[in-house]
Amino acid sequence: MSLKEKVDRTKLPKHVAIIMDGNGRWAKKKGNQRIFGHKNGVKAVREAVEGAGEIGVEYLTLYAFSTENWNRPKQEVDALMSLLVSTLNSESGTLMENNVRLRSIGDIAGLPKNVQQNLSEIIKKTEKNTGLTLILALNYSARWEIINAVQNIVAEAKQGDIELDQINNDYFEKHLNTCGFPDPDLLIRTSGEFRISNFLIWQIAYTELYFTEVLWPDFNRDELYKAIIDYQKRERRFGKTSDQIINS
Ligand code: FPP
Repeated sequence: MSLKEKVDRTKLPKHVAIIMDGNGRWAKKKGNQRIFGHKNGVKAVREAVEGAGEIGVEYLTLYAFSTENWNRPKQEVDALMSLLVSTLNSESGTLMENNVRLRSIGDIAGLPKNVQQNLSEIIKKTEKNTGLTLILALNYSARWEIINAVQNIVAEAKQGDIELDQINNDYFEKHLNTCGFPDPDLLIRTSGEFRISNFLIWQIAYTELYFTEVLWPDFNRDELYKAIIDYQKRERRFGKTSDQIINS
């Protein structure tokens, strides 16, 4: 029985988020430059997108570029931006064929103009697709997202549009970049690091975490299915007792 067959389709995570890590180490192990790892990471992105779409995951969020990644050497940042543009261009047909809807989160206005243009074209092109929603986190930082939400809420309060006691979870979430997307059920991080690295901090309050030693360029459908099978063995209690969950 293949791993794909072992996935219980009645207990799928609706939203899977991935911290793609380990491209640099993968390249170094092979005696290559870091960018070689990023280039090979694109294959793993394809595997994750196709693998998720094939079993019926509804949302897949990929942490592709964090706000902190600008601190990397300019050569690497430039190479990552070009890789992003070339990948979006080369994959846009496949996204259409696979009925994938592309969206983004993060400070998109802070990205190079050509990346912004490219991204918005493909988001527009795929907006009516009804299959997997692929969300790219670009120039993203959860603290930035939260501060941005607070600033907008304070501005609304100052204008008298909202009373303090009306600010609750639902109201706050409407001011996040992820407004309209469900919280991730499963968060995967590759490369053996046990960190969240400023990713979706608000949204992962009740998310199941899965860490694997696999370096991102080696990630594939089967690695995704392994993570989902592990997730399916867990009991999600959301603060309740085990008995309450079993009897509900
Ligand atoms: C982390 O590995 C990876 C990144 C910062 C970039 C991820 C980008 C891609 C997989 C390619 C393009 C993506 C898309 C969506 C088209 P690292 O460089 O931090 O690895 P290290 O920890 O081993 O140094």
